[in-house]
Amino acid sequence: MTNRLRFWAVVPAAGVGKRMRVGVPKQYLSLAGRSVLEHTLASLLAVARLDRIMVALAPTDPYWPELAVASDSRIATTAGGKERADSVLAGLRALAEVAHDEDWVLVHDAARPCLKPEDAERLIESLCDDPVGGILALPSVDTLKEVADGRIGATLDRSRVWRALTPQMFRYRVLRDALEKALAAEEAVTDESAAVEWAGLRPRIVEGSPDNIKITRPEDLPLAEFYLERR
Ligand code: C5P
Repeated sequence: MTNRLRFWAVVPAAGVGKRMRVGVPKQYLSLAGRSVLEHTLASLLAVARLDRIMVALAPTDPYWPELAVASDSRIATTAGGKERADSVLAGLRALAEVAHDEDWVLVHDAARPCLKPEDAERLIESLCDDPVGGILALPSVDTLKEVADGRIGATLDRSRVWRALTPQMFRYRVLRDALEKALAAEEAVTDESAAVEWAGLRPRIVEGSPDNIKITRPEDLPLAEFYLERR
């Protein structure tokens, strides 16, 4: 008998949100009546294929125990790390007892509260037979410039440039090994795909929705509220 492949989620939520210029980490800011993180986790909980959602929290996080979702049976927590990649790796290690090497892991930013569950489901459907995995992304609508010292060095071919979103979906062992090696080599990996690319693989692109914004600056909150209320 072959074991059924399982799907896990890792949510890095250990950031302090320096660019928001507010005291509260951005995942705990209030958005349409609840915290950013609660919206994010509600979207993932709506994806029935996800067996467990591992949330990587800052080692001293006073806000988490207050959330109703903290007691959900499909949610577990672990301590995150210094950078986003460290937090993701901590989440993967915390799943080691239950996840098999071939299982899939969807990594999704805590700060992306407008993820539509159907987009995560489409990612799963599109990639579950893929040898590598891939990410939700959006084609660039702007013309992109390569800049150094405030001056343009080159114009990039827009048709070849996409913006990486999350979730990003990879096999448990592929992602864990890629992150471990990239971190040991002190490679700057700002998403999971970068680590997998660095390991020599070519992740696939699945087109996502423009609503799936990452809360980064204060002006992102009213925009996220607009997207959530429009549903
Ligand atoms: O800061 P940035 O927007 O890149 O953060 C993306 C996600 O990574 C956020 O959900 C943030 O909480 C998380 N993060 C983390 N551990 C860190 C830094 C960021 O889990 N050390």
